[in-house]
Amino acid sequence: MALSDFDLVFFGGSGDLAMRKLLPAMYSRDVCNDLPDSARIICVGRDEATQEEFLKMVETNSKQHIKDTPEEASWQRFLKRIVYVALNATDVATYGPLAEALRKDESLTRVYYLATPPHLFATICDNLAATNLVTPASRVVLEKPLGRDLASAKQINLDVGKVFAESQIYRIDHYLGKETVQNLLALRFGNILFEPLWRREWISDVQITIAEKIGVGNRLGYYDTSGALRDMLQNHLLQLLCIVAMEPPTSIAPDAVRDAKLQVLRSLKRFTPTTLSQNIVRGQYRGGYVDGQAVPGYRDEPGAPKQSKTETFVSVKAEIDTWRWAGVPFYLRTGKRMADRLAEIVVRFKPIPHSIFNQPTSSFQPNSLVIRLQPDEGLSMNLMAKTPGDSMRLKQAELELDFREQFKSPRMEAYERLLVDVLRGQLTLFMRGDELEAAWEWVEPILEHWEQDDSTPVPYTSGTWGPAASSALIGRDGLQWREEVLPED
Ligand code: BG6
Repeated sequence: MALSDFDLVFFGGSGDLAMRKLLPAMYSRDVCNDLPDSARIICVGRDEATQEEFLKMVETNSKQHIKDTPEEASWQRFLKRIVYVALNATDVATYGPLAEALRKDESLTRVYYLATPPHLFATICDNLAATNLVTPASRVVLEKPLGRDLASAKQINLDVGKVFAESQIYRIDHYLGKETVQNLLALRFGNILFEPLWRREWISDVQITIAEKIGVGNRLGYYDTSGALRDMLQNHLLQLLCIVAMEPPTSIAPDAVRDAKLQVLRSLKRFTPTTLSQNIVRGQYRGGYVDGQAVPGYRDEPGAPKQSKTETFVSVKAEIDTWRWAGVPFYLRTGKRMADRLAEIVVRFKPIPHSIFNQPTSSFQPNSLVIRLQPDEGLSMNLMAKTPGDSMRLKQAELELDFREQFKSPRMEAYERLLVDVLRGQLTLFMRGDELEAAWEWVEPILEHWEQDDSTPVPYTSGTWGPAASSALIGRDGLQWREEVLPED
């Protein structure tokens, strides 16, 4: 559906995110003829580059990230939308060229996307306000990291909230833009089948994994002060947990969904120093092999402190104190340099209570539902079925739904989907301020404990599924991570 006219401003417009994700996302909408002719993309950067120099930079750094090589005519049409503005975000006196680049029409959708370090959020908002650039039709998009602890997240909410109303603030978590995450909503609330079973009486445990093969890459400066807990768990994993565990919202309206997610975050059982050491494993990759290639350990990455305590892996056993979920463990896990790249949610149901067949109950694999976000998008359900032949022998079989096979329509990348939502003014897939704070509130005791604690993350070999302690964490409950459960022959 075509979008209404807009001025879209990318602060950090010459940065990595803009080049790799944001501009390609907008190109992709443009090529579908979704953007009005007059819609503009204003890239704001520090460098004193001319318009021509900036467009060359886009040509070199951004074009390669577009899925299908653009045709020259559509690429040139896209470049015509881009305006480069050089300014110093912290110096209000330099905002003049931005004011000039923006159209004056107060009713025109104006989006400020802050793809900058978070310490600049407050200053940019203040400077936009001081130069009268915040119109009633303005929106602001905040890119992660949204704080590094509860206090800094609160401060961001406070600072940005002085200039923009909550309904104008779009806090991005790109996982919510992934197709399968929205499909999870469809699955849970578009079918009658799952909801009656979606509770402690029938579900034994839930595993949520985001595993990456890549290492820290060229982001060491940021990553070493962040770590997997802040980088992935506080946001992406907790958001997935919320969508799996929330009560049915009354509608898909932003606050209905966000209220339901908030309730989950507030019901997460708080860790104490004792429960914390039992229920959380942090790891750091050592050298090893990924896809047959030798890769260095984290501490040997260029620029990494030799004694770094930054975790590149974390697994947590979380619990939700509600009638629906009491006693059901939610195992969350994420890591870099792991054996495979995958993101999936595994919902495991309880075992059958009694076997009527000549097989012990223990030979029945409990049913499980696997929701795959990456690398492919799909859903599989494990059932027990009879093997062909003259004996009544049951074996595990799989029902498979491949979203790409099923729906041939073109996909939207997560950032593309979320940018479109911002431009349309749809807030459902964005975090509200109180949600952000509730997520930090739960994570904070873990951060504090690690800061005070002398212990270091457990090493794990690159190209594996993380430290053995992570298998032990789930093994203590008599369970295994999905990849550890070998399929029967
Ligand atoms: C980002 C993290 O939010 O998500 C990165 O900062 C991580 O460290 C990335 O690599 C993973 O996203 P995706 O979509 O590739 O799974």
